[in-house]
Amino acid sequence: MSNYHIKHLEEYYQVYRKSIREPENFWEEIAEEHFMWRKKWDKVLSWDFSKPEVKWFEGAKLNITENCIDRHLATRGDKTAILFEPNNPSEEAEHITYYQLYKRVNQFANVLKEQGIKKGDRVCIYLPMIPELAISVLACARIGAIHSVVFAGFSAIALSTRINDSDCNMVITSDGSYRGTKTIDLKGIVDEALESCDGVHTVLVAKRTNSDITMKDGRDHWLTPLLDAASVDCKAEIMDAEDPLFILYTSGSTGKPKGMVHTTAGYMVYTAYTFKNVFQYKEDDIYWCTADIGWITGHSYIVYGPLANGSTTVMFEGVPSYPDFGRFWEIIDKHKINQFYTAPTAIRALAKEGVGLVEKHDLSSLKVLGSVGEPINEEAWHWYNDNIGKKKSPIVDTWWQTETGGIMITPIPFVTPTKPTYATLPFPGIQPALMDENGQEITGNQVDGRLCIKFPWPSMARTIWGNHQRYKDTYFSAFKNQYFTGDGALRDEVGYYRITGRVDDVIIVSGHNLGTAPIEDAVNEHPAVAESAIVGFPHDIKGNALYGYVILKETGKGRDQNNLKMEINQIITEQIGPIAKLDKIQFTSGLPKTRSGKIMRRILRKIACKETDNLGDTSTLLNPEVVQEIMDHSL
Ligand code: WTA
Repeated sequence: MSNYHIKHLEEYYQVYRKSIREPENFWEEIAEEHFMWRKKWDKVLSWDFSKPEVKWFEGAKLNITENCIDRHLATRGDKTAILFEPNNPSEEAEHITYYQLYKRVNQFANVLKEQGIKKGDRVCIYLPMIPELAISVLACARIGAIHSVVFAGFSAIALSTRINDSDCNMVITSDGSYRGTKTIDLKGIVDEALESCDGVHTVLVAKRTNSDITMKDGRDHWLTPLLDAASVDCKAEIMDAEDPLFILYTSGSTGKPKGMVHTTAGYMVYTAYTFKNVFQYKEDDIYWCTADIGWITGHSYIVYGPLANGSTTVMFEGVPSYPDFGRFWEIIDKHKINQFYTAPTAIRALAKEGVGLVEKHDLSSLKVLGSVGEPINEEAWHWYNDNIGKKKSPIVDTWWQTETGGIMITPIPFVTPTKPTYATLPFPGIQPALMDENGQEITGNQVDGRLCIKFPWPSMARTIWGNHQRYKDTYFSAFKNQYFTGDGALRDEVGYYRITGRVDDVIIVSGHNLGTAPIEDAVNEHPAVAESAIVGFPHDIKGNALYGYVILKETGKGRDQNNLKMEINQIITEQIGPIAKLDKIQFTSGLPKTRSGKIMRRILRKIACKETDNLGDTSTLLNPEVVQEIMDHSL
């Protein structure tokens, strides 16, 4: 028997040790006992980090939707699979049972097929958090099409870049989306994006806001009549274990976004196993993750992980501040939520509103609280623990990444004693290593270094779509035979990990990864801008905010600075999305550069963070005098 469900600390250590000593046996037992296979694997694992190439459960055949839906029908057909809570609290919540989900996914899958989508085709999904989002994701998986969900807050340009990068030939969207009091014209954004996407032949449009939109003849189709006419039976495509399941874009420190490719079997096994343990899900629990399915957290822990365990998973369309800042607590009370998984930025924003709104609601159903996306600061951790968990619901501070597919370092609730700001211990199967700048592993405890993983795990991304070399360069070149996470971490005296933050040029703003280079590119598009550099600085609610140093061309120097700032942020909004807007913009005559012409971001970062007591060595700078100027005028 595999230890699928870990219940006490000794068991964790025992399971963990086994996962390290006999990784193949360990994962084979879990895969064998808890999933539905059309054919078993020939080999559990083959890997070579120098290529890099990783394969799990090679030779196995399966369909992930049979694991997430079909196999539950006999015992859980009438159980709610997806509980949809609309933006507007006076609109009724929708309970979609496993049987209804089965029918709706099949109908959708049949529509995709009728529209010419085949196994291996890429389908871009640009939808708000409405049931059609989860259903279209599963419909793609049903027929072996590769879904590429793009978060519906991204701009038209960001959307078209992603559509073109993976050659999607279909886009699934809606007439509009609701976010609090706002209605957003999603279809208009898609129309604009598609002006530069020749490969897209079909757009399927879900009706949500009844907005007045234009439908392009021959290309655009309303979903409802197509779904109504489609059969509720659709045979699942039999997939190879290593067939791609989806592409999901994440920002890199340089260049265009990286389309991380996740494959089928390993991803399924790992997300299901982590979900079960990290949230201690029990049969009648109601689980709610507040992320958007446009991010990895939504893929793994709203859709695949929960459904693979036959759980009830909540999808919330709205925002935490509408109709007021008590909305999350109202939903917990209304649906008697047992596991609640959110981001530190949301916790900080809600904490600021005081406990009055919390106390209006009964939160006694809660058993487990989760945090993800960025380091949770001590104050937010205690506020969450005291006021939401009432000191009886353990907080699981889960560290992981788009690239890792599933949760990597985390407490297991009621098993691992928690410690504020610590993600604590590696999940079974995960072998972290801390590395020094010379590429040596730092052993022992009470040390810090760069966080790497030295052995493959089933849900790791296999490549970057269309650019395997970039995958190798980004993740497998900094440290020999290690996957490099881009994060720094420390290990305390008992072996608990604390993630200290990114060590590259990715900045996490409100839990969203933003690479500085693409934002600088956007800023530099402004006709009055000569050059720019962007760094992060601490922000009470967002965790980090963006600070831009901008050199103007002669033509820009006489212009009104506030107007320029607005225009710069407008370009960022158009090119990337409002999440990447700069909080502070400082115009300067120069940027500190090394003799080889590289901008010394370390110095700019210190100035932005107001840590100017010790700027470090500036003697190697080409233009040390500019540092004083920047400090004198810093914001
Ligand atoms: C950061 C989100 C500290 C980290 C699942 C990582 C965290 C990046 C935590 C990945 C955490 C995520 N504590 N930092 N619990 N969780 N991060 O790809 O820097 O959106 O590398 O995946 O978020 O962000 P991504």
